[in-house]
Amino acid sequence: MGKETRIGILTAGGDCPGLNAAIRGVGKSAIIEYGMRVFGFRDGFSGLINCDYKELNEKSLSGILTLGGTILGTSREKPFKGPELSDEESILSKPEKIKKTYENLGLDCLVCIGGNGTMKTAYKLYQSGLNVVGVPKTIDNDVWGTDYSFGFYSAVNIATEAIDRLHTTANSHKRTMVVEVMGHNAGWLALYSGIAGGGDIILIPEIKYNKKVIKKYLENRQKGGKPYSIIVVAEGIDIPLKKDGSTRNYSAGTYISRIVEEMTGLETRETKLGYIQRGGAPSPEDRIIATGLGEHAARLISEKKYGLMSAYDSHEIISIPLADVAGKTKIVPVDNPLIKMARSLGTCFGDTLPQE
Ligand code: F6P
Repeated sequence: MGKETRIGILTAGGDCPGLNAAIRGVGKSAIIEYGMRVFGFRDGFSGLINCDYKELNEKSLSGILTLGGTILGTSREKPFKGPELSDEESILSKPEKIKKTYENLGLDCLVCIGGNGTMKTAYKLYQSGLNVVGVPKTIDNDVWGTDYSFGFYSAVNIATEAIDRLHTTANSHKRTMVVEVMGHNAGWLALYSGIAGGGDIILIPEIKYNKKVIKKYLENRQKGGKPYSIIVVAEGIDIPLKKDGSTRNYSAGTYISRIVEEMTGLETRETKLGYIQRGGAPSPEDRIIATGLGEHAARLISEKKYGLMSAYDSHEIISIPLADVAGKTKIVPVDNPLIKMARSLGTCFGDTLPQE
């Protein structure tokens, strides 16, 4: 009989709906289909550094498909950042501690579930000699090399529902509503929720906005008898520095809300959705995406294929080298068909006015 295969799993970076579905996807198929042993590390890379883990079995992986958050915990620990040597109690650097944990546990592979930062760390660990497989998650949809990562559609649902609710209160009071959504430096979440929620103006980091265009567009809506407007703002859009060159201590949504009221005199209110977008149960799409990506990771390990990330190419699950993913971000191409579609319905992206 050959040696049993032992794998480690961790979830790192910001949490998102679907992490537990992915842990279950990897873990259950590793145990049931391939007879592997599975060890879950607590709080992302911190668990690997501190050898903090628990063995996962079919029982502990049951009943978690629909749960938000992550049963393993997460952190933003970046083991390759910061001073090479840790405190005086130890002469081992964090990557060396990780290697020690990996070797002491007799792991054959480590599955890193996370976003862009996690894939970068996963690649570095792979370069340092560990067997690693990546599984992409993010509400931002910005992991390079995959059409879908789980977390995104749940966040789109939450943001869309919020925008729907803003429509009725905006209409009652004849106000302009600014809603800020997450997305880091990419506009995917604003674009999808903005279109699904019928936002009148959608501002994303990939398209430079012009204040005068926003003003004119809102005035035209008023003139056209439309008493209220919804502006969906991605948190990552550029906002100007203060006169003294320092950054503003308020967010993109607040900035847009203030200038809109100043420029137009329209009564304007701001809503920042924040962490609500990351919490709670995953949508059915995200459960399926996470399960598929997780199951594929276990399959890659069973075939001894390492240094790869599970990914979606349209509806097909594929794998791509972590080397290709590390250090890149998937932003919204300005010729994205959804932008063209929304523009032809009169939606404004802050750069030009729709055809009058
Ligand atoms: O990457 C996911 C994300 O939720 C971004 O949309 C957001 O900018 C960031 O994480 C917030 O991070 P933190 O959890 O560190 O506050």
